[in-house]
Amino acid sequence: MLSIDAGLQFEGLDNLFYVSNDNTANTILLVDDEINNLQLIRRTFRGKYDVLTATNGEEGLEVLKDNLDKICVIISDHKMPVMEGTEFLKKANDIAPDIIKILLTGFTDIEILTEAVNSCNLFQYITKPFDPNELIKVVESGVEKFNLSSSKSLMKKELKELFYQTIKSISATLDAKDTYTHGHSMRVTLYSLMLASQVNPLDTDFIEKVEIAGLLHDIGKISIPQSVLCKPGKLTDEEFVIMKSHSSCSEKLVHNIKQLGDIRAWVRAHHEKWNGTGYPDGLKGEEIPLCARIVAIADTYDAMTSTRSYRKALTHEIAIQEIEKCAGTQFDPNLAKLFIEMQDEVKLAKENPEKYYKMYSLFHKNFEAGKAQRI
Ligand SMILES: [Fe+2]
Repeated sequence: MLSIDAGLQFEGLDNLFYVSNDNTANTILLVDDEINNLQLIRRTFRGKYDVLTATNGEEGLEVLKDNLDKICVIISDHKMPVMEGTEFLKKANDIAPDIIKILLTGFTDIEILTEAVNSCNLFQYITKPFDPNELIKVVESGVEKFNLSSSKSLMKKELKELFYQTIKSISATLDAKDTYTHGHSMRVTLYSLMLASQVNPLDTDFIEKVEIAGLLHDIGKISIPQSVLCKPGKLTDEEFVIMKSHSSCSEKLVHNIKQLGDIRAWVRAHHEKWNGTGYPDGLKGEEIPLCARIVAIADTYDAMTSTRSYRKALTHEIAIQEIEKCAGTQFDPNLAKLFIEMQDEVKLAKENPEKYYKMYSLFHKNFEAGKAQRI
């Protein structure tokens, strides 16, 4: 089982509004074929910034690639052998769009400069001969802009991680409530991620949303009495009505979290059926959101292959046969076909959900895998 602590993890909160100086880049890359210029600019920035140098654009790109985490500003001459400054800065911009680019030029051809500003994402140009004090001012304001934008990116990343970890903790709390379905939300999320990756492998935004929807799909079960949720035996009609209310409850519980967007409707719809006989709204076919159709297959597969209070787990093979049988009635037939085609990997994932979750979760790759490497 995936190691999710049931309690909230406060690690993200500690760092949320703290921007470490370690994230402040302090290195300038200077590219110029004239050694005198290189020496002059080096002297200008001595004691203020670290300066890396290159004598042509090709060499400059190599230095840039090797020092991406340190460089905040590139200063490039325009007239150089091998490649002109604007061409070098254009290529540098493809590698590092956020790094500040400054062009030194001996002429003032407005057309070339306008093109450079647009294509290289140029911060400023300086005409030669330049005043060192003017260059220092331009570089200082460039560094300030670079660090501000780095801080914003870092803060956005921290907020996203806090959001994800909170959702994961809430989901783990739910999984802990029902001893029979222990790990259910996590496994449903895993199978949903596997299927979503088949449907839309390049749509990372959709895959991330599917993960959140998977983790939250049954959150409404928090409102279901334990006596109904864990009843050993068949539910009465009345109890079944209570149980069925959980999907609309899931939506109600997250309704005010506007950042969840469509995910709120997706969790509500995870018990809708392709033929329109599901609940709570009796949606039919493609009226049911794609993610809800994905979660429905994952949810049913996990329900069948897990031991419940009223029956033992069915085998993987029987569960797959059932999904095949219900394709076109309960399930979207195309999605059911895809799920059946990937059944060997689903079976492996069922045996080792923690390992497979790490393989398929984009959030894990972005947040937790990096941390594990740093440790
Ligand atoms: Fe459910």
